[in-house]
Amino acid sequence: MNDVSAPALIQPANDRSVAAAGARLRTGQLVAFATETVYGLGGDATNDRAVAAIFAAKGRPSFNPLIAHVADFDLIETLVQVDDRARALMKRFWPGPLTLVLPRAAHSPISLLASAGLDTIAIRMPDHDVARAIIRAAGRPIAAPSANRSGAVSPTTAAHVAESLGERAGLIIDGGPCRVGVESTVLDLSTPIPTLLRPGGITADQIEAVLGQKAQSAQADASAPKSPGMLESHYAPALAVRLNAEHAHAGEALLGFGAMDCTLNLSPTGDLEEAAAHLFAMMRALDRAPFTALAVAPIPEHGLGAAINDRLRRAAAPRS
Ligand code: TXA
Ligand code: MG
Repeated sequence: MNDVSAPALIQPANDRSVAAAGARLRTGQLVAFATETVYGLGGDATNDRAVAAIFAAKGRPSFNPLIAHVADFDLIETLVQVDDRARALMKRFWPGPLTLVLPRAAHSPISLLASAGLDTIAIRMPDHDVARAIIRAAGRPIAAPSANRSGAVSPTTAAHVAESLGERAGLIIDGGPCRVGVESTVLDLSTPIPTLLRPGGITADQIEAVLGQKAQSAQADASAPKSPGMLESHYAPALAVRLNAEHAHAGEALLGFGAMDCTLNLSPTGDLEEAAAHLFAMMRALDRAPFTALAVAPIPEHGLGAAINDRLRRAAAPRS
């Protein structure tokens, strides 16, 4: 038996495993690791392909924007725009279970797929030595949703991650059971009135005590029933979108898939992970003059194709 070439899926957190995790992340591979809230499935937040691999491993039928995890305060302003409110909350609660949604900085290196094409980025600094050591070893922000298959409960031990994701996790760094056990609070600061998008480890009262202002609750504030997904703002192209196009009509840009003549190609070889990685950047590149509309080639519905088609159908839906 040769166990040298096949390291165990779960490794205890130590200098060697953390260095190995950093090396994997730098080459676009995934690593699951402990945070104080739940285990995260991490990938390089600046690498579209690594982020596409996260969505593929989770098996999620749609692209939800992900949180960029950082280990230190320096360089944060190269990722997001930090105002006085954000600075005060970071000072009080970071590292800790508070995620802030902030406007994307000009030239932010964060993957557009990680933010689902939005102009805002969710960012947090986990209160866990193993998580921060891995982020430092990677030397870049790490995108990390909870390390479970879509629809399953969030994992709070390394064994949970292995049960849910198995080999899809790539490598699991065991940092013990999670102290908080529920996901971080998500607070949107991209608007004048702070909006609580997800309750979590830090309470609304704790936030109000720092801001001197109540955060409005995205849920309680509803004047009309909210449909699932309504809280998520979605990137919508300015140009009209036509789906399942084999050819461009006059004036249209054609976003292709597989071997074909087109303006830009999501994946000439028909690779759905590559297509996901390119989706938002290419939609944005074509969403402008001289084009008058955006036509998109048919995308197969299997694997990440389901999430790509979900996003394309939203982009093509009639606008009100
Ligand atoms: O505790 C946590 O936050 C865990 C650990 C691993 O850090 N992570 C986590 O990630 O729960 P995830 O991907 O399962 O949840 C991210 C949440 C989602 O509700 C998502 O909609 C929201 O953050 N989010 C991310 N980016 C956003 C953005 N730009 N605007 C609005 N909401 C955003
Ligand atoms: Mg989750």
